Amino acid sequence: MTTPPVTVGIIGAGNISSVYLQADRKFANIRITKVADIDMARARAQAEKFGKQAVTVEDLLADPEIEVVVNLTVPQAHAEVALKALEAGKHVYNEKPLATTRQDAQQMIALAQQKGLRIGCAPDTFLGAGLQTCRRLIDEGAIGKPVLALAHFLSAGMEWWHPNPAFFYKPGAGPMFDMGPYYLTALITLLGPAQQVSGMARITYPERVITSEPLRGQRIQVEVPTLVIGLIAFAEGALAHITTTFDTSEKYTPQLTIYGTEGALQCPDPNTFGGPVRLKRKGDEHWREMPLRGRWVENDRGLGVAEMAAAIRSQRPHRASAELAYHVLDLMHAFHESAEQTRHLTLASTCARPEPLPEDWSGA
Ligand SMILES: NC(=O)c1ccc[n+]([C@@H]2O[C@H](COP(=O)([O-])OP(=O)(O)OC[C@H]3O[C@@H](n4cnc5c(N)ncnc54)[C@H](O)[C@@H]3O)[C@@H](O)[C@H]2O)c1
Repeated sequence: MTTPPVTVGIIGAGNISSVYLQADRKFANIRITKVADIDMARARAQAEKFGKQAVTVEDLLADPEIEVVVNLTVPQAHAEVALKALEAGKHVYNEKPLATTRQDAQQMIALAQQKGLRIGCAPDTFLGAGLQTCRRLIDEGAIGKPVLALAHFLSAGMEWWHPNPAFFYKPGAGPMFDMGPYYLTALITLLGPAQQVSGMARITYPERVITSEPLRGQRIQVEVPTLVIGLIAFAEGALAHITTTFDTSEKYTPQLTIYGTEGALQCPDPNTFGGPVRLKRKGDEHWREMPLRGRWVENDRGLGVAEMAAAIRSQRPHRASAELAYHVLDLMHAFHESAEQTRHLTLASTCARPEPLPEDWSGA
């Protein structure tokens, strides 16, 4: 007997919804039926484009067929929408971050536990072939024992390309909450949980001017740090340095490098699923590009949803878990708090490293 696909409803029909709305073409174990948004015009436009049904949030939550709600709303609405979905008896998969505050995230996790439901969370890029190859190389000892990680996202902010960039400079956003989840999720899945952190943060430009259309010339008052630097001590011993910023002249420069006792690994941009992965062992003169081990190399957002759906059917833990996403959220807050309090902080949260994804995992 074949296992029926898990029925999925999507809430939030904005920018990122297009890639998710096509996920059931790639992953046969999910079936996306409905899309909702507080802005019905958006829900209708996306439903028509991708052959789904547009409904209100209430109607989507009342549909007994829908087992998983994929929550693609803005970060400030993540908790509210997730709590409603859990109340309605649905498993939830949130876009990142899990929530904007620890309290909201804790409430979500407690409710899910009480109701026997799952919470999954983006990013799922760590399940892509690029970062999975890094994971396998590290686990196999290719760089020896990890010692140091450098994780840097350098950018010139969002106002030169995003049509409505003000929210990036308001509470709940900023470079760490927006881009940090990719880097921190990669680091935790490669090196294990973090234990202690230290941070420095500042607002370099208190006012920004939009240069993209249609709001060109409008000014944004910056309310959150736009240069956030963190130091991390991992439980297994490695140290890391992470920078996330909107304040450089670089438009988009990602870096993730892990140094070990026997060599170093250049990881791909953790906001992507593919490569390149480069290895330089002790004594090597040059970096060597390594073959990718895994099949997900494109913009395969939705992989985490499909993996959670498979885990629901086979009653095993899923990989892009609330525990992992909560640890990431805790770290992001701790960098800012450490900067405000000018002291190191010990984290209250931890998490287990999710198992590597089987190389041929297809969701079928
Ligand atoms: N845009 C990207 O490139 C990108 C990439 C990765 C992750 N994300 C994440 O995806 C999420 C959505 O980003 P986006 O760029 O699509 O944003 P967006 O602003 O384009 O879309 C968000 C949508 O959510 C709807 N919404 C807001 N509150 C709601 C509520 N309470 N109930 C129902 N609908 C509600 C809005 O009407 C809007 O259509 C964010 O968490 C973001 O961090 C975005």
